[in-house]
Amino acid sequence: MTKMTQDELKTQVGQAALRYVVKGDIVGVGTGSTVNKFIEALASVKGDIKGAVSSSEASTVRLKALGIPVFDANAVGELAVYIDGADEIDGQGNMVKGGGAALTREKIVAAQSRQFVCIADESKRVQTLGKFPLPVEVVPMATARLIRQFAGIGGTAVVRLKDGQPLVTDNGLHLIDVTGLQLSDPLAFETQVSQWPGVLTVGVFAQQRAQVCLLGTASGVETLTFK
Ligand code: 5RP
Repeated sequence: MTKMTQDELKTQVGQAALRYVVKGDIVGVGTGSTVNKFIEALASVKGDIKGAVSSSEASTVRLKALGIPVFDANAVGELAVYIDGADEIDGQGNMVKGGGAALTREKIVAAQSRQFVCIADESKRVQTLGKFPLPVEVVPMATARLIRQFAGIGGTAVVRLKDGQPLVTDNGLHLIDVTGLQLSDPLAFETQVSQWPGVLTVGVFAQQRAQVCLLGTASGVETLTFK
């Protein structure tokens, strides 16, 4: 058997996620290259759903281009399911997210959903979170102080740039990426850092962790469930 590419693994889990989509319902849609595969798959069943709540401008553009109606999060109630990728996922369903800069809206839509189904290729599975630089969305006037605050707990934070300038998120704010942190207790870490003045969202998803992960592996899609 030829080895599947990462792109093929993403396609596989994007399609597998369709089985979690509830007919006649509105589905929460994440952001990223894996979710883009899911959006393509979702287009094939668009007649069976009402539409989507999107976690980024980028996903909104893709959804609309494929004829899938996009609803404002405020216009709908609780969603049955939110489907999104991750930069890292551990054995309890805790994740690091935000590599695609959409962490804040991702956490919002995840919080509005009963079930988080993570779709990822096997490179994302880790024993302990922390290798991937941790994205944190910040209010720009707090950036320098937050960089010092992360240094105080052993982290090295840098401002994420785009074309040589600080990247501006969908919410009009900036991102810092932090390396060198110990994330052995993701829930405690998320709770602590979320309270730092100037932090809008920290990219640890422990409060909004996944209940299910569809993991693309060379031998097929593995379904991991977390209590
Ligand atoms: C975007 C995210 C993505 O889910 C994460 O970066 C994974 O992306 P990809 O599927 O492209 O690897 O959190 O903010």
